[in-house]
Amino acid sequence: MGQFPLTLGRFISQKQADDQGASGGLPGLLVQVGLVGKLIAQDLRRAGLLNILGTTGQINVQGETVKKLDEIANETFVKVFEQNGLVCALASEELEKPVLFPENWPQTKYMLLFDPLDGSSNTDSNMPLGAIFSVVRFESKDRMPTEDALARKGTEQVAAGYLLYGSSTMLVYTVGQGVHGFTLDPGIGEYLLSHESILIPARGKVYSVNEGNYQKWAAGTKQYVEYLKIFDTATRRPYSGRYSGCLVADVHRILLDGGIYLYPGELAKPEGKLRLLYEANPLALVVEQAGGRASTGTMRIMDVEPKQLHQRVPLLIGSSNDVRDAEEFIQGKRPGG
Ligand code: AHG
Ligand code: MN
Ligand code: MN
Repeated sequence: MGQFPLTLGRFISQKQADDQGASGGLPGLLVQVGLVGKLIAQDLRRAGLLNILGTTGQINVQGETVKKLDEIANETFVKVFEQNGLVCALASEELEKPVLFPENWPQTKYMLLFDPLDGSSNTDSNMPLGAIFSVVRFESKDRMPTEDALARKGTEQVAAGYLLYGSSTMLVYTVGQGVHGFTLDPGIGEYLLSHESILIPARGKVYSVNEGNYQKWAAGTKQYVEYLKIFDTATRRPYSGRYSGCLVADVHRILLDGGIYLYPGELAKPEGKLRLLYEANPLALVVEQAGGRASTGTMRIMDVEPKQLHQRVPLLIGSSNDVRDAEEFIQGKRPGG
């Protein structure tokens, strides 16, 4: 008889014993992110029956319409982390200001940043959704973290990952020692190890971008996407287009099969759409840990110096060779291919 797959809790504790990197209360914190995922997945499974589709009628700090499920997912994250005492601060896409927990400091130095529901335009059509999280440490010995303590460079993350609510619920994380994926077995309510040490192919054949924005792009972005559609068997072109409207789902596909996801800057909006601290940085850490690359087009995502909690950034992420090609076009090094 084959071995029973490891549970998330067991795997993390076992890894922590092996790895120097996963120190302190990180295992508990990751298990609690898993708990948030179970709670949200349960709502999502019956969303059409519970009157939780549609919008709240409010606009969030990003200027975007708030879906009822955005609010529910955000409250679930906040409540779970308020109760467990495992972080001294948290920040969410849905909250203008961070929430500080002075009572948990200095016992815990971890701070959690998250996008509680990613791809929320998909809520009402039973399409994939996700959540993205990033963990950083507050190192000061003598003062409690303040709001600005959460805006940290991607290279300072000690853990990151995502929850994917697709045909199954998955938790994928890294603590800087590779990337591991777990699938929720709903029958027993446990995440079981399904994808150990994920490695992204160096090149793929899928591109994922909202091509409806084509006319808004700079010349280099247009030329790159045109290049992907040209027939050339040596470079396995044309690539296939795949875009779900959920960053987590699109990046997950690319993490497993290779390719590139792009949300580029636009002529009138050079900063792009996605948020640095709780979308781009955590996914960049995951993808780099799997051997891939994440770039703004001109620099590594994780080297971007954050100025604000909700700052946006252009994102090119995926297989290293594909992201390098896109950078070359965007930087005008390969005009016309
Ligand atoms: P969120 O739902 O957290 O605001 O994120 C939406 C993001 C991302 O999930 C997706 O890839 C992208 O925005 C979709 O944007 P467009 O509708 O502009 O393509
Ligand atoms: Mn998002
Ligand atoms: Mn969101």
